[in-house]
Amino acid sequence: MNIVAFGASYSRTSINRQWAEHVARQLPGAGAVRVLDLNDYDLPVYTVEREQEQGIPEAVGQFVAELQAADAVVVSFAEYNGSYTAGFKNLFDWASRHTLKMFEAKPTVLLSAAPGPRGGLTVLQSAVERFPRHGAEVVGSMALPRFKETFHPEQGVVDEALRAELEGLLAQFAAAVAVPRQG
Ligand SMILES: Cc1cc2nc3c(=O)[nH]c(=O)nc-3n(C[C@H](O)[C@H](O)[C@H](O)COP(=O)(O)O)c2cc1C
Repeated sequence: MNIVAFGASYSRTSINRQWAEHVARQLPGAGAVRVLDLNDYDLPVYTVEREQEQGIPEAVGQFVAELQAADAVVVSFAEYNGSYTAGFKNLFDWASRHTLKMFEAKPTVLLSAAPGPRGGLTVLQSAVERFPRHGAEVVGSMALPRFKETFHPEQGVVDEALRAELEGLLAQFAAAVAVPRQG
């Protein structure tokens, strides 16, 4: 199963990119994992006039094509002021003009991570509610709070309760895509 994973942030050192990749590599049945860097989709701010006058930028089609080529998608949302980062929202708005249901019924895992105690839960809840309208088959979600203390680059999730939550999420994914779990 080909997985596409990305952090919904244009930060070059995005913790959400790390978290999305970590989860994607553990998904039952995962084969190739392609990790996107949103900096590869450098876009002007969406306006109706820009779309009418210049059309949809090529980079938007490239982003949608990455989603279309995947069997499953993992997104981790950075939370800025209780919502999507402006950069991701802009990409998302452009992408919705290219293909409204860009997730095409693919199994989709929605995540968030933040240094604070809520782990970006507000933006995550909003995405869980919204993404099915764009075709995402949301099979599970998880917010990772206190990222610096709970996540280690080599060991992964080091908090016991959060590790158990992650195990539950992976089992949910396995059940949704009907892949037998190992170990
Ligand atoms: C403008 C701005 C607003 C932020 N607002 C929130 C917020 O509402 N909730 C939160 O948990 N963290 C907030 N943060 C902290 C981010 O969670 C933190 O920068 C995190 O590293 C972003 O994820 P990323 O590294 O994947 O970009 C904010 C950070 C910035 C720069």
